[in-house]
Amino acid sequence: MADDEKKRHFCEGNKCLAFIFVVVIAAIVTVAVVTFVDKEIRTVHKYDNSKLPWWKQTVVYQIYPRSFQDTDGDGIGDLNGITKRLDYIQSLGVGAIWLSPFYSSPQRDFGYDISNYTEVDRRFGTMKDFERLMNETRKRNIKVIVDFVPNHTSNESMWFYESRRYNDTYKDYYIWSPGIKRNGTNKNDPPNNWLSVFGGSAWKYDEIRREYYYHAFLESQPDLNVTNKEVQKELQNALTFWLEKGVAGFRLDALKFMFEAEDIFQDEVGLGEYEYDESQEHNLTTNMPEIYGILRSWRKLSDGFKDKHGVGERFIVAESYGLTHAIRDDYYRAGSVPFNFDLIMKLNNTCNGHCVRKILEESLAGLGPSSEFWPNFVMGNHDRSRVASRLGADMLDAMNMMLLTLPGTPTCYYGDEIGMTDASYTFEETKDPQGLHFNKTGYMNHTRDPERSPMQWNDSRNAGFSNGTPWLHVNPNYVTLNARSQSESNSPTSLQMFRELVKLRKIASFNNYNITFIDTAQPEVLAYIRFGLGQPKYVVAMNIGGDNNEVITDFSKSANSIVGRVSVMTPRLSKASGLKNKGIKLSQIGLRGGDGMVIEVLP
Ligand code: GLC
Ligand code: MG
Repeated sequence: MADDEKKRHFCEGNKCLAFIFVVVIAAIVTVAVVTFVDKEIRTVHKYDNSKLPWWKQTVVYQIYPRSFQDTDGDGIGDLNGITKRLDYIQSLGVGAIWLSPFYSSPQRDFGYDISNYTEVDRRFGTMKDFERLMNETRKRNIKVIVDFVPNHTSNESMWFYESRRYNDTYKDYYIWSPGIKRNGTNKNDPPNNWLSVFGGSAWKYDEIRREYYYHAFLESQPDLNVTNKEVQKELQNALTFWLEKGVAGFRLDALKFMFEAEDIFQDEVGLGEYEYDESQEHNLTTNMPEIYGILRSWRKLSDGFKDKHGVGERFIVAESYGLTHAIRDDYYRAGSVPFNFDLIMKLNNTCNGHCVRKILEESLAGLGPSSEFWPNFVMGNHDRSRVASRLGADMLDAMNMMLLTLPGTPTCYYGDEIGMTDASYTFEETKDPQGLHFNKTGYMNHTRDPERSPMQWNDSRNAGFSNGTPWLHVNPNYVTLNARSQSESNSPTSLQMFRELVKLRKIASFNNYNITFIDTAQPEVLAYIRFGLGQPKYVVAMNIGGDNNEVITDFSKSANSIVGRVSVMTPRLSKASGLKNKGIKLSQIGLRGGDGMVIEVLP
């Protein structure tokens, strides 16, 4: 055959068809494999946390406006004070602030008794001040979450005023009952034995309407009748008002109290005479299933604002203590995040590293990647003793390290970043109604003033909080314990560590669900690994409950490496060891009580 002919015949016949078939199949398979593998590569190596909604990427900083910064000299913090301190807040690296109530209120419960949901109380400033605060936060990329109190209003609310007078529109806005004859007396008694959280009967006889009204909290905080459609509309209007102002979400106050049993002529069993026991079940006055329907409606309302004001998804976080996991999950399903108070309620001085681990595991159980249930942790708030007092000043830094390195969204109470401690007030000085419900000996266990002392900004008069007389005096330890000195100090401080951790937790290794607890032989040591697919791995280790003796732990096996680099350390350890940003042997990590370390594992 001539050469020409060979060429012409090269691709003829069945053999050639088979060849082309094989080539085509091979090409398809190759493309499929490459695409698949590449996708694997992409997910394995580029876990991207920037896709998470903003509230899953940030730390929430709670501000109690009365105690943060006063600008007009009346001794009460105000909205302009918050605006004034935004640079400080930005320097913490937090992306959201939650403001306790600043609405019109006679301040019997310091703002949690609202007389008008859509007005700013003059003590805190004006609506203009609020708008300015919103503008300034926007410039700094800080979101604003406001408090919302749907369970009750103030007794000075126009609604209550009209309801007492039996005005047709408002008569069913609250929970009224003529009561019941029990003891053969002429006057009716309250319809049941329900107790107020603040102590005593939850029913108060009203002389004008000549009926009892229900109040889960103070007499001056009548419970709204949230089953009333008109009340539901009013609440929706209030939420809409603030959504239109551009707020990024709501912290829902006292949510589990929002509904009561329909038949109010039933007693709760096992109640005491006066003092409310939080650990009891209260099956007629808390956790009613109606809560979820309302929550869903608020989620829907908020979702309507998703594309407005450049905020995105709104964060709806609910305050309800003592939830079972089943109830917790119902809150999630209804589109809200139930605050997780385990770090407040379950940690105590006798709980060492292993004990804390158990609490954390229990807290995280059922949350995680398989579900939409994003974890969250809270270390302190305006109702509970501060962490530096509750667990001791020497535990403060380790606790903040834990809070900021756990999965989920952390919430930090103002002042805890510098380790403020509870202030003390005599009975005569006491302002908190919960404390004043008790006597000179009993008030100490109930007053919430100690954790509400003014923010300690610097060592000048009144800690830089106010030029006037603070509504609660400043904790005298402000002279040495304040934000300015910790910020300017050349040696490591709590505040500096806090900032470093907030920064570190933005990276994908921390900003996800993944956590593996490490089994440590030493009961004091709490340790876990944080990692993201394709991200650097970190060992976080703290000595909780140990004494001043150094405890050595070997992390090389659990971390599957022998070396690491120290990223963040608690201040005392940082000063003592000088190891920051240095290489370290994972087989010999030494920690004394209250010490903690975040170590990047090197390959
Ligand atoms: C919530 C608040 C608390 C307030 C109570 C009544 O628990 O956090 O401060 O006293 O509700 O509104
Ligand atoms: Mg003021």
